[in-house]
Amino acid sequence: MKLSNEALLKQQAWIGGQWVDGESSNTFAVTNPATGAVIANVADCGEQRAREAIEVAHETFLSWRKTSAKQRATLLRNWFNLMLEHQEDLAQLMTAEQGKPIAESRGEVAYGGAYVEWFAEEGKRAYGRVIPSHLPDRRLMVTKEPVGVCALITPWNFPNAMITRKVAPALAAGCTVVCKPPQLTPLSSLALGVLAEEAGIPAGVINFVTTSSSRPVGNEFTSNPLVKKLSFTGSTPVGKKLMEQCAGTVKKVSLELGGNAPFIVFDDADIDAAIKGVMLSKYRNTGQTCVCVNRVLVQDGVYDQFMEKLVAATAALKVGNGLEGDFDQGPLIDEAAVECVEGLISDAVEKGAQVMTGGKRHTLGQTFFEPTVVSGVTPAMKFAKEEIFGPVAPVFRFETEQQAVAMANDTEYGLAAYFYSQNNARIWRVMEQLEYGMIGINEGILSTELAPFGGIKESGIGREGGIEGLDEYMETKYACMGGIN
Ligand code: SIN
Repeated sequence: MKLSNEALLKQQAWIGGQWVDGESSNTFAVTNPATGAVIANVADCGEQRAREAIEVAHETFLSWRKTSAKQRATLLRNWFNLMLEHQEDLAQLMTAEQGKPIAESRGEVAYGGAYVEWFAEEGKRAYGRVIPSHLPDRRLMVTKEPVGVCALITPWNFPNAMITRKVAPALAAGCTVVCKPPQLTPLSSLALGVLAEEAGIPAGVINFVTTSSSRPVGNEFTSNPLVKKLSFTGSTPVGKKLMEQCAGTVKKVSLELGGNAPFIVFDDADIDAAIKGVMLSKYRNTGQTCVCVNRVLVQDGVYDQFMEKLVAATAALKVGNGLEGDFDQGPLIDEAAVECVEGLISDAVEKGAQVMTGGKRHTLGQTFFEPTVVSGVTPAMKFAKEEIFGPVAPVFRFETEQQAVAMANDTEYGLAAYFYSQNNARIWRVMEQLEYGMIGINEGILSTELAPFGGIKESGIGREGGIEGLDEYMETKYACMGGIN
């Protein structure tokens, strides 16, 4: 990892504008998943540091909430500019700790920054309203107010963008935040802290509590009454647990949880466009995103043609260490992730599926896995229900539109779904029937700061991005004024 600004590599927690050690000065190692090399030793905080961060965020909230939306927008804009100025260093840090190809890391810094830019603007438009009154002497008003201290828990797969798409709307709304960055990838968050400080964001508005053990910090975040909102991105089981813990103090919650995205290719699809879409969606971040294609459903009439092209495109992907060249695929985050992928493939093969390309650990060793296509997958296999989080495309066959929709909806998840068709009536029918929060129609990538990202069913609650993203950090207050004669 080569940084032109070494000051971006921080290894301490950031609380009240101070870089601090954990309670006991213990640290935990952050490793490069491509090589296993230790790249940093980060402060290991517990409950007490979490409490201190919440208290400082609460005190700071009392003044931060009084700043104007325009002042907050200026500070967020400064932060965005600094992120772009340091894009290369932030990308180097990200690839070093997360493993994604360097081009994807550069893209993620731009994507993460775009949320900051968007909410800097959107914060100025947190409008209330005046309701035409039902009585002549009354006036009815609705205003929006910041929720208060927000606790944010983010995942390792997008170490930058998952922070910014929570922190930026919170700050724009007038909230302060305590964040628990992921244990595996805390360095990108801490670098954002350095830039936030340089941008002029006051001490205590953003706080980072780094830890190797999520439970004590999570318990404090979910039980402390000073915290008014929890936003979490991660697995569905953990999300459920956190939601339960927040019930004690009735916090507002936003949850971005797991997915099981179907990618449906109908007989009337543009097959080359569908191949382009599936490659982008399936293999983004080496298959480690919540919106990655999890199940490819292909109609009978185009199955063989589609399969041939998918296998060729997958076999051509270049795999390697993102810090050593321009690759399409990096390592998986750890060996447990590789084992999980291996387990899903052997379950399918035992039940009759065929590996068309890939299917085993890459010769690069460690955490690298070959990009894989599996054919003849059926609903009886684990691929139908489990989130893969790896570079494997399991392909199912279907005959009718009705069957495809039923297969697509046969999951407790409801995050993203994709389908390819050139028939307008079918496009509307299928779009309306898919039980998902986000639908890609003839598109494999749908994420943008401009649109509401989020799921239904057990994929979550709330939305990030778009105009909806700001509302998650605001309370609605209704005031009724009488005696106006
Ligand atoms: C995620 O995997 O949670 C986020 C992906 C995205 O923002 O596109």
